[in-house]
Amino acid sequence: MSIRIDHETGLITLHTLHTSYQMWADGQGVVHHLYYGPAIGGSDLRGLEFYSDCGFSPQPAGMDRQRDYSLDTLCQEYTGSGVGDYRIGCLRLAGPDGSRAADLRFVSAEAVPGKYTLPGLPAACAEDDTCETLRLKLRDAVHGLTVTLLYGVFARADVITRAALLENEGNGPIRLDKAASACLDLPFGPWELIHFHGRHCMERQPERVPLSHNIQTLRSARGASSHQHNPFAILAAPHTTEEAGECLGAMLVWSGNFKIECEVSQMQSTRLVAGVSDDDFSWTLEPGGQFAAPEVLFCYSDQGLSELSARYHRFLQRHIIRSPWRDKPRPVLINNWEATYMDFDAQRIWDIARQARDLGVEMLVLDDGWFGERSDDSSGLGDWQFNEKKLGCTFDQLIGRVREMGLLFGLWIEPEMVCTNTALYAAHPDWALTIPGRAPATGRSQLVLDLGRPEVVDYLYSLFHRLLAEHDIAYIKWDMNRNLTDVYSRVLPPERQGEAAYRYMLGLYSLLDRLTRDFPQVLFEGCAGGGGRFDAGMLCYCPQIWCSDDTDAIHRIKIQYGTSFGYPPCTMGSHVSASPNHQTGRSTPLSTRAVVAMAGTFGYELDLQKLTDAEKEMVKVQIAQYKQLQPLLLEGRCERLTDAVTDTCFTAWQFTAPDRSRAAVSVVVIDPQANPWPIHVRLRGLDPQALYHESLTERVYTGAALCHAGLTLPILQGDFPAVQIMIERTESL
Ligand code: GLA
Repeated sequence: MSIRIDHETGLITLHTLHTSYQMWADGQGVVHHLYYGPAIGGSDLRGLEFYSDCGFSPQPAGMDRQRDYSLDTLCQEYTGSGVGDYRIGCLRLAGPDGSRAADLRFVSAEAVPGKYTLPGLPAACAEDDTCETLRLKLRDAVHGLTVTLLYGVFARADVITRAALLENEGNGPIRLDKAASACLDLPFGPWELIHFHGRHCMERQPERVPLSHNIQTLRSARGASSHQHNPFAILAAPHTTEEAGECLGAMLVWSGNFKIECEVSQMQSTRLVAGVSDDDFSWTLEPGGQFAAPEVLFCYSDQGLSELSARYHRFLQRHIIRSPWRDKPRPVLINNWEATYMDFDAQRIWDIARQARDLGVEMLVLDDGWFGERSDDSSGLGDWQFNEKKLGCTFDQLIGRVREMGLLFGLWIEPEMVCTNTALYAAHPDWALTIPGRAPATGRSQLVLDLGRPEVVDYLYSLFHRLLAEHDIAYIKWDMNRNLTDVYSRVLPPERQGEAAYRYMLGLYSLLDRLTRDFPQVLFEGCAGGGGRFDAGMLCYCPQIWCSDDTDAIHRIKIQYGTSFGYPPCTMGSHVSASPNHQTGRSTPLSTRAVVAMAGTFGYELDLQKLTDAEKEMVKVQIAQYKQLQPLLLEGRCERLTDAVTDTCFTAWQFTAPDRSRAAVSVVVIDPQANPWPIHVRLRGLDPQALYHESLTERVYTGAALCHAGLTLPILQGDFPAVQIMIERTESL
């Protein structure tokens, strides 16, 4: 039993294999947070709570005499508003009478087998008995607002998911101005915040900052989780490293506007609140109405960041990704984008495909520019007819030739967008998010369709359903190349416009849900100008996401490094592109580009015909190497052996098989030294007693030797050299 509810004392404890989470519904019905950390067995931790008469921290109604009891100082599971807790809160609202307070008190707690679902939203799922759900119901008696806190306890995975369902059981409308998913009130600290910021072409760069008594906010108001902030945060104890120390993560299963806020209170407790952003948000709950606040995945490790990442990786792999592709080797692909951009005809594509096939590539992906009037990015989105004039053949002829070559065929689409010079826009100008009387802002010369409207989603569904049903398409790259502005839905009344961005996400998720269910065999890769929507929400539908539009191998090391804190390598689309690189102009060896791309779902994105014969031979070898490596990426554990942000000389990472029989270590030299010092790496996670053969010097060492003494590499000089070392368990010295 992973959930224990003591109805007499009100104590509720959640147990996973290595962690415990404890809360307590007190006699007032306030639900306290007591603990989240390493397993504590059956202990009752109420004795650790600290009560003091804190000046200017008010007492809730009925507790006038108990000056040391204040919602302002107690650690809680979810907060109301306007009743004496002045820290960042979970709720802001206006009741039917305009009053803005909500005093949430305990109603009931029940444990049910299996995993809860959320209406309209992606969420973790449990195929078997790996999860138990706690439903904890709170209520504000005046407005009749109930908040059901949902906890999914994945005991073996050491993850606790949380979400909240808000329901109006009263008689009048309640307007929600903020409705967070979860609050985590950690009684003791200190904690540091690790978050992942960035920009287009440099996503998910880790930054570690101390938490302080101000409010620190990670947010996106872009209508997508964004390049700039990722909906994932880690709180780490100050001395936590990759291999040791306490840390916990909060990852939203949500791809739209979000906020993760942290604050250290006057009592030195730390509060983290996560959910849909309250910027430009409101939601009217009519009597009987419901609002679902998206899921947050909480995970705790007392063995450092590496273990935290490993737990997230396993969890996303098993419980978030639904596609049958999740455990399967992904085809090595060639994408024509950086080879041709939009300047191609069928012959060019076939030439690229044939050359790629000859070198061992398994799938051709036709990127942007195959439809409508689209010779550049100023037109065409929305008119999804194959452009026979430009390509010089029919769609099926194009695909047919590729298939005859023995390759799978994949296709780029960007369903959420429309250009104004298209037939779709002419027919339905009101389908775009624009504000009457105001010229809209554009991004990449395109507007965003209002996916909050069911008829728009239905239209896109039948269009892309037909595309997939009628043509032999094995893979879809689902792109989204601008952020939302002019967020105004023509079908919502003025007072409900604050719902438009959330409704957009509901529409997007329903579209993805329908198409991925109808075509489970199709491999969907997410994309938003590279990694602008790289999150656990999208991973529910797309088992891989194009990690960044920056394909420069040296930048990619940093991007993939940051991404790996939360997301498994097999979810990161990663390609070998041309040198000099198109984004940075930097030249790197083909071997280095391949070593870096092999830390994700591997492919090529360049004109292979332009390679020398020797390079073509290298490509053949790289594909064979990747095939050997791929099982490690899908099932193995990924270790960041160096800090790609602060270690300027070289970067190293390792993949290890679950049974520790094999590992692969990759090292890329960023800054070769004159009069060089040794490049030395210590491996991780090998069986200390076992003997391993390492491919670099063909020597045999014990796992203990490789992990403690490590490996010294030969001198590596020149521009960005890289090595890949295979470590195999062996019987003899
Ligand atoms: C985005 C993607 C690229 C490419 C282009 C096509 O930028 O990230 O990989 O598909 O769109 O327009």
